[in-house]
Amino acid sequence: MSAGAEPELRLDLVRLAAVGSTNDLIREAAEAGAAAGRMIVAEQQTAGRGRHGRIWQSPPGNLYASLLLRPTRPMGELASLSLVVGLVLAEAVEALGCPVRAELKWPNDVLLGDGKLAGILLEGSSADGRRCDWLIVGMGINVRAAPGVDVGYPTATLAAAGLPNVQPGDLLGALCPRLTRGLAAWERAGFAPFRDRWLARARGLGGAIELRLGQRTVQGTLEGIDMGGALLVRGADGVLEHHAAGELVLPALAG
Ligand code: BTN
Repeated sequence: MSAGAEPELRLDLVRLAAVGSTNDLIREAAEAGAAAGRMIVAEQQTAGRGRHGRIWQSPPGNLYASLLLRPTRPMGELASLSLVVGLVLAEAVEALGCPVRAELKWPNDVLLGDGKLAGILLEGSSADGRRCDWLIVGMGINVRAAPGVDVGYPTATLAAAGLPNVQPGDLLGALCPRLTRGLAAWERAGFAPFRDRWLARARGLGGAIELRLGQRTVQGTLEGIDMGGALLVRGADGVLEHHAAGELVLPALAG
């Protein structure tokens, strides 16, 4: 390791054919005491799940991976990992030569054109509510197959975007070093160093948005994200609100 570089997370990769959900398998490993860096990659899932209780259809041809972390940063910062992982995923796609620029939809979607290429599902546990015992980063990326996603806009794949010969293993190869570097940098300094790179790929900046917050929906203009990765929304009354969670709806994307 050169002076000033972060100590990298060492990945311990387990490759499986068909599983229920890679997040479930990593959770079992976490509860059995596995070290940070254990990563399960499956060729298909029969019980893949997404955010907000959605099904993540997982046919062969795509990348399904879950990574175990044992983060030491404050609990309030953990959600920003979704943004960091989305960013390095977008950069891995670019490194493979994708002719379409990968963009980011807060907090966890990677877009190609008007379609969803990838999603990230964070699941964690804390016994005392102050320190995170384990956190799972689940990643689903549509490499070749385009299952429907129930999010109101279409599915994108690397194959349809101009990379018909790329296999899930190629994407994994581009992703792993970026993931380990990014996660080590986040562990050391949090989200702030990633903010500019994230904003440079952000979809919907300056546009009208809706943010669904359980029972309440906020409408306003998307101003960006703050240093912690929270969404900045300016309401009709001109007040700027910071939102750490919620489901963002971009009307332009939904058509
Ligand atoms: C989203 O809703 O956008 C998040 C989708 C996350 C899907 C991945 S696929 C690998 C891992 N295992 C799961 O069951 N879900 C995540």
